[in-house]
Amino acid sequence: MNRRQFLKLGAVTGGAIALGGVWRMGGRAALAQSSAVPTVDRLVMTTVVDNFYDAFARGGKLDTITVQRTPLPQGRPLIAEHGLAYHLESVRGQERREILLDFGYRMPTLLNNYAVLKAEPLSADALIISHGHVDHFGGLPDFALVAQGRWKPGLTLYAGGEDTFCHRMVVNPAGGAQDYGQLNRAGLEGSGLKVVLAKQAAVVAGHAFTSGQIPRITDFEQSPAAARLVAGPVDSACSATHFGVTKVEVKPGELVSDTFQGEHTTAYHVKDRGLVVITSCGHAGVINSTRQVQKTTGISKVHAIVGGFHLAPAPDEIVAKTVAAFKDINPDYIIPMHCTGLNTIIAVHREMPKKLVMPSTGTRVIFGA
Ligand SMILES: [Fe+2]
Repeated sequence: MNRRQFLKLGAVTGGAIALGGVWRMGGRAALAQSSAVPTVDRLVMTTVVDNFYDAFARGGKLDTITVQRTPLPQGRPLIAEHGLAYHLESVRGQERREILLDFGYRMPTLLNNYAVLKAEPLSADALIISHGHVDHFGGLPDFALVAQGRWKPGLTLYAGGEDTFCHRMVVNPAGGAQDYGQLNRAGLEGSGLKVVLAKQAAVVAGHAFTSGQIPRITDFEQSPAAARLVAGPVDSACSATHFGVTKVEVKPGELVSDTFQGEHTTAYHVKDRGLVVITSCGHAGVINSTRQVQKTTGISKVHAIVGGFHLAPAPDEIVAKTVAAFKDINPDYIIPMHCTGLNTIIAVHREMPKKLVMPSTGTRVIFGA
């Protein structure tokens, strides 16, 4: 698709979606087929929690984005913590939407940072959880209790599959295992949230969309070797057979390799700019994720690739192949957060220096007009 066609599609779909509402799409290419790709005029992406806070990080206007940093405040500082949480505010015409994507490791960090950033999480029009690791969902259960009865009525949490609610572990080379938590779906529903499993592409709050489950199309992006899923009872959503382990006897409670079947990516189509793809932790592969968003929408132009790319433990060969694929996709900006790894940040800086935007907790990136 050339730029002229892309801009034309953006204009048409923007008008089509101005009616608002929430859709779920039925097929992998359903967003493109139905011409229902929502387009926004502007997206303000605030990193509420990330691993880092850099008081000296430079902001300012770049070619087609504006980067705003949060200076060291008097009294109450931002807290950086292993994990991710985003506040996503988008505008189309007079219509404004707010989405919370992921919730960091702990509620106190999440709410401290929302307060410092003067953003209101109770104003959310929708919630998205990228996958079932505690560094992304950790702040949500307690916050859902605090927010019970104060959310907008019918507030929906979009998850990518049943396995978002399975018990996760990470094994270490010495043979031990670290608990990576289990998000309690019933508990969230008891707090008044509606939970939707968006296994296929879904429009969220009329402005954003999720990728649906992500096919693994590259030959170099593998699920993290250390990640495990605790097998649940037979025939339960977390049983080993549910995830395709049919030739191995795995009893409930035993560990199986985690393929992150239900991990999904969040994206926006920003008018006159292109796709903003937010991978969160990227266990499905940042390239697989970006390609899936392109395929699902039928839009080739990628404005920005954002998120944890989960390449910190990756060998140099994988990093090189990922950066080569970035060059092929040719986004305007790459914003590598959280679990991306210094190896990949250095490689992007070396190969594509003008595209790199360094992350920091409290950063606002303004996409679009
Ligand atoms: Fe993560």
